[in-house]
Amino acid sequence: MRFAVLGSGFWATEVHSASLAAHPEAELVGIWGRDEAKAVAAGARHDVPGTADLDALLADVDAVSISVPPSVQPDLAVRAAEAGCHLLLEKPVALSVPDAERVVAATTAAGVASVVFLTYRFREQTASWLEQASRSALVGGSVTWLASTFAADSPFRGSVWRAEPGAPLWDLGPHALSLMEPALGPVVAALGTRAADGTVNVVLEHEGGATSTHTLSASASSLSAGEEFWVHGDAGRLVLLPPPEGSAHEAHAVAVTELQAAALTGGAHPCDAGYGAHQVRVLAAAEAAVAAGARRQV
Ligand SMILES: NC(=O)c1ccc[n+]([C@@H]2O[C@H](COP(=O)([O-])OP(=O)(O)OC[C@H]3O[C@@H](n4cnc5c(N)ncnc54)[C@H](OP(=O)(O)O)[C@@H]3O)[C@@H](O)[C@H]2O)c1
Repeated sequence: MRFAVLGSGFWATEVHSASLAAHPEAELVGIWGRDEAKAVAAGARHDVPGTADLDALLADVDAVSISVPPSVQPDLAVRAAEAGCHLLLEKPVALSVPDAERVVAATTAAGVASVVFLTYRFREQTASWLEQASRSALVGGSVTWLASTFAADSPFRGSVWRAEPGAPLWDLGPHALSLMEPALGPVVAALGTRAADGTVNVVLEHEGGATSTHTLSASASSLSAGEEFWVHGDAGRLVLLPPPEGSAHEAHAVAVTELQAAALTGGAHPCDAGYGAHQVRVLAAAEAAVAAGARRQV
């Protein structure tokens, strides 16, 4: 399958394009960026052309792998779907429910496949953890994710959307949900608070009665940064170990393979745009709960 990468920033170049350039069953055809010089430079890293002409590139490929800020992604995703391209999307699918629903509607209308790159879900270790979780009677789960997004050595320190007050929820929340929901069930309601340093603390109620607690921060000191995930129940506490540094392109390659399979078979994918839109509804409810200091239903 012929792919274009839409985006020429760090993540687009170092993960999406690197994974596609090395993929045995996919071909990286070109890179689009709003700034042609940056797109050309990103393309040169992987021996493909860079361009600012989106329509010409979309006409030349079967699929796109999108890595731009989440407020920018919906319009690009809709244009790509309308051009008949299958979609490998980034998380979160959008920053509003209507925008997420536009993406879903476009994929349905065009009959294209979609996969959201919820990185953890494309790792073998997560599949074993979820399999183990499915054999336990679980009552709860916990996510603590302390990121140092703006530290001097962070590749995301210049990211404008991550500097918004709600960003820890929208940036880290999709990964947290992608692990807790398959283990504990879909989220139906949220409660939450925001601490003075911007850390978001959220309690999510899952269908069936389990709860998960989420502590998400973008401003942790480098010394305290890290992530922890676990669920608990009759089999004890099942801990998911964090992945090795620098392994995201391997997960992306799996997502590419799974998008191709969904496109060829016409089958749905558990992390498709529809699931991405569900995540956006959960995150919007959690954000509303934090703002109101009261429980909000999804
Ligand atoms: N799955 C994961 O584990 C994972 C990890 C990291 C990031 N991500 C996702 O990847 C996406 C990109 O993240 P990021 O950190 O790279 O974002 P970012 O640093 O905030 O922005 C990336 C690039 O988007 C471009 N951009 C900004 N506004 C644009 C616009 N209006 N039109 C077109 N391009 C625009 C910028 O290009 P210019 O160079 O032209 O300014 C910038 O280089 C996000 O959705 C993020 O959540 C996912």
